[in-house]
Amino acid sequence: MRMVDLIEKKRDGLALSKEEIEWFISGYTNGEIPDYQISAIAMAIFFQDMTAEERADLTMAMVHSGETIDLSSIDGIKVDKHSTGGVGDKTTIALAPLVAALGVPVAKMSGRGLGHTGGTLDKLEAIPGFSIELDNNAFTAQVNKHKVAVVGQTSNLAPADKLLYSLRDVTATVNSIPLIASSVMSKKIASGADAIVLDVKVGSGAFMKDVEQAKELAEAMVEIGNKLGRRTMAIISDMNQPLGQSVGNALEVKEAIEVLKGKGPKDLHELCLTLGSYMVYLAQKAPSIQEARVQLQEVIDNGQALETLKAFIEAQGGDPRVVDEPEQMLGAKYQIEVASSKSGYVHAIEAHLIGNAAMKLGAGRETKEDQIDLSVGVVLQKKIGDHVNEGEALVTLHCSKEQVDEVKNLILRAYQLNADPVQEQTLIYETIEK
Ligand code: URA
Repeated sequence: MRMVDLIEKKRDGLALSKEEIEWFISGYTNGEIPDYQISAIAMAIFFQDMTAEERADLTMAMVHSGETIDLSSIDGIKVDKHSTGGVGDKTTIALAPLVAALGVPVAKMSGRGLGHTGGTLDKLEAIPGFSIELDNNAFTAQVNKHKVAVVGQTSNLAPADKLLYSLRDVTATVNSIPLIASSVMSKKIASGADAIVLDVKVGSGAFMKDVEQAKELAEAMVEIGNKLGRRTMAIISDMNQPLGQSVGNALEVKEAIEVLKGKGPKDLHELCLTLGSYMVYLAQKAPSIQEARVQLQEVIDNGQALETLKAFIEAQGGDPRVVDEPEQMLGAKYQIEVASSKSGYVHAIEAHLIGNAAMKLGAGRETKEDQIDLSVGVVLQKKIGDHVNEGEALVTLHCSKEQVDEVKNLILRAYQLNADPVQEQTLIYETIEK
């Protein structure tokens, strides 16, 4: 086979065969096919798209480029959840113990944060003692015993995706539905999921800016998953404002704990129940999605979800006292309110600006090498639909320094106020299943 022939074929809008896709992905991973030819085929895919068959073949070729995690020694149907990334998205920390409390095994590999969205691993490390490193045996044993474990992704998971993603980043080919969908699904399948629930975020703080685009991506991923024998469902959820109230590592852990106490913010609570009910249903622990939702609310109300969280934290070396005494986590030195310069109703909160504000305080990384401060962040006092008076606090900054003018400016830019009342923001736009 010659790479130039495959580029030409895709350039002319023809479908590549499974063998051709496997050949170029393995050649690229082994360093035999140069970046410039892969860039050309990525651009051809960007313009010519891929058939459902090609998307599934590309996904599996990337899965086979590296290690695949074998979860077969864990009892039950392993359902993974994936979010395309948002500001204040601490869902996994509440959701994992919540569904585990109903016996759904959650064997989760998570990542660190970069840019304005945070990573689950960083958040969990705000719990004193919590370790995200477990060897394979300890990982499966913990899931069998407590039904939940969260670890860092092994570096050899879908290495072809890592290479291709970095190349796409510098060749303007990130924003392509077949390439994003196969990238996300290759990592989920390589990490051993039997079934997958996807949370595709849409809005100013997300990768996908409009619902149509998000729906196309969600449908593409659901189709790949189902074609490859993994029952897959997706929701499209809002990221036109941060999720919940807190953005910042320890602050987000506190908020996730509140959800399991039945006291979390309404949007976060609702998202956990929605995603959770799909997970419980796909794991065949409830006969219907409605029944799954009832059972999830029960384990919140009777404290079982909170007990599962404590057991999960303890099993990974963390201090379970944080559940009852969140002050056991490091708090920031200063709390500074940012007051509104006018009165009105909150119409929009640019989530990426809030994410950037938290990052400037030290809660996130601008580059992979940056150290983060787990105690700092932003707590929103007002969300879309709320009324605010001039001089009233929009947010509270939790910070390690008093000089935060740049951050205050970002917050004021993020909030859009208007004299007319506005309805609350829709949280879940659509559900996609086959
Ligand atoms: N996230 C991924 O994992 N892959 C993409 O291609 C884009 C976003």
